[in-house]
Amino acid sequence: MRIAVIGADGQLGTDLVRTLDKDDVISLFFPEFDVTEPLKMRTALEGLKPEVVINTAAFHRVDECEDDTEASFRVNAIAVRDLARLARELDFVLVHFSTDYVFDGRKRSPYTEDDPPNPLNVYAVSKLAGEFFVRSLLDRYFLIRTCGLFGEASSREKGYNFVDRMIALNREGKIVRVVDDQWVTPTASAELAERISDLIRTEHYGLFHLTCEGECTWFRFAQEIFALMGKKARLEPVDSKSFGAKARRPLYSVLENKRAKEIGLKDFSAWDKALDVYLREKGILPQ
Ligand SMILES: NC(=O)c1ccc[n+]([C@@H]2O[C@H](COP(=O)([O-])OP(=O)(O)OC[C@H]3O[C@@H](n4cnc5c(N)ncnc54)[C@H](OP(=O)(O)O)[C@@H]3O)[C@@H](O)[C@H]2O)c1
Repeated sequence: MRIAVIGADGQLGTDLVRTLDKDDVISLFFPEFDVTEPLKMRTALEGLKPEVVINTAAFHRVDECEDDTEASFRVNAIAVRDLARLARELDFVLVHFSTDYVFDGRKRSPYTEDDPPNPLNVYAVSKLAGEFFVRSLLDRYFLIRTCGLFGEASSREKGYNFVDRMIALNREGKIVRVVDDQWVTPTASAELAERISDLIRTEHYGLFHLTCEGECTWFRFAQEIFALMGKKARLEPVDSKSFGAKARRPLYSVLENKRAKEIGLKDFSAWDKALDVYLREKGILPQ
């Protein structure tokens, strides 16, 4: 299968390119390939003739999005509209990623694809707008909501992922304040890439929630990192209010992989098992 990966050196992009090694993969890198430049994007994709385009590009520094609504919408919504238009015109299947943050967290039990979104911050509003463009313009698409990614390449946009960040801060010997009232599901981008590889070979188009299994707060996640490493860490649990981040975040954004289970996609690991694998593959724990 001829597959173009946008953001091929990002956290998820890196794992996708690695996982799709038996396919004819075209890696697209920013800034040479910029989703906010529709004309250049059109020329490039017209020439490359992919059957599938996987878009991992995002503006997802959530607190910065509050101040830069335009940049947030440019990458997370308008560019996605342009890609969806191209998908229709050039006849490729679009795979696009969205976020657990489209929900407001009031449900307090795992969100399925059938639950209505109600975003609380600019980032999430822009991602939801991107979702609507994909859903309104296309029939053949895979729209994936995921949560709390950690992968070997770390998030390019943020400069780190949560696991690496916790380890680095602990190394500095500081007391690390971690939010203990936001429930999420940390998800290994390596596993997500494997599920995407399976999913794109089906015709089960549409919206999917794809995350690891289980749930925890960010504080509990941090505790598990150091428990697995057998290291003492000076972690301080704090609530969202005292943490004082600029953007409001849902207190509960755990997703249920309902559709994935219905179509028989391979189950994800529990998040703590996936974390163990990640630490071993990264060389932080012995193999
Ligand atoms: N990370 C998470 O915890 C998380 C949670 C839920 C959903 N998601 C979603 O999952 C997707 C992948 O996340 P990730 O963690 O893999 O992100 P990432 O590591 O930041 O990767 C994004 C990639 O896109 C590239 N990019 C940025 N702006 C671009 C543009 N205008 N045109 C083309 N490429 C551009 C980046 O290049 P440069 O690095 O050179 O800028 C990078 O290679 C995103 O849609 C994100 O919203 C992520």
